[in-house]
Amino acid sequence: MTMRMMRSAISLLLLHVFFAGAWSADDLVEGERLYQIHCAGCHGPKGEGGRGTVLAATNLARASTEGALINIIARGIPGTEMLGARLEAQQVRQVAAWVRKLGQQPPPQIAGDARRGEQLYFGKGDCASCHAISTQGGVSGPDLTEIGLRRGSEYLRKALLEPEAKAARDHRRGQCDFCFRAG
Ligand code: HEC
Ligand code: HEC
Repeated sequence: MTMRMMRSAISLLLLHVFFAGAWSADDLVEGERLYQIHCAGCHGPKGEGGRGTVLAATNLARASTEGALINIIARGIPGTEMLGARLEAQQVRQVAAWVRKLGQQPPPQIAGDARRGEQLYFGKGDCASCHAISTQGGVSGPDLTEIGLRRGSEYLRKALLEPEAKAARDHRRGQCDFCFRAG
């Protein structure tokens, strides 16, 4: 091991110690409690996602740094359903700590055959006539380009299959009869 490698290994270790030490066990307990109240309804009790993004992931597209994560929790993401939470600064940090903890869990497994899904999407389902992916497709339904980064898979499944579900009610308003025939 060279000096340089050793030094970077040591600074990485210090960084871990610093972050681990920044949160007490009490902070995490409080963070989880607040998460269940303010976030779980959309992001799932274990961060598995729902109406909101999967948070049980090591990399969050818009919250890769502590600062960005804290900012999103406090202020939301403008123009989306993600609103800022009414929490004090310390509570925001506690929730952020819990979100990072969720990120250490394995991401949810999704059953299904993506290839077959793609065939159905462009074929029998005719989804592209109403929805765009990367600017290709219709515009009468919402753009689905990054839908997997916004919604959990269970929510998406329900949007297509279960007429009683909120997501599906929204969808039906869009008159996609394929989905309800399939369901
Ligand atoms: C009303 C539902 C809802 C609630 C409540 C909610 N979120 Fe969100 N959140 C969303 C949605 C939807 C998105 C994706 C926004 C988009 O891109 O359109 C999101 C995005 C995020 C992101 C960005 C993820 C990424 O991949 O970059 C983080 C982090 C986040 N939420 C954390 C939280 C936390 C922590 C709470 C609780 C304090 C919370 N959210 C409460 C719906 C919600
Ligand atoms: C006739 C047009 C039409 C067709 C065809 C159609 N959709 Fe939709 N879809 C819509 C509309 C409109 C909405 C938005 C409803 C709303 O927001 O109230 C929607 C909503 C959705 C949503 C929810 C998006 C979100 O942000 O929650 C998903 C997922 C979806 N559609 C997937 C599909 C798939 C997959 C197919 C093909 C099997 C399909 N749609 C076919 C019009 C359509």
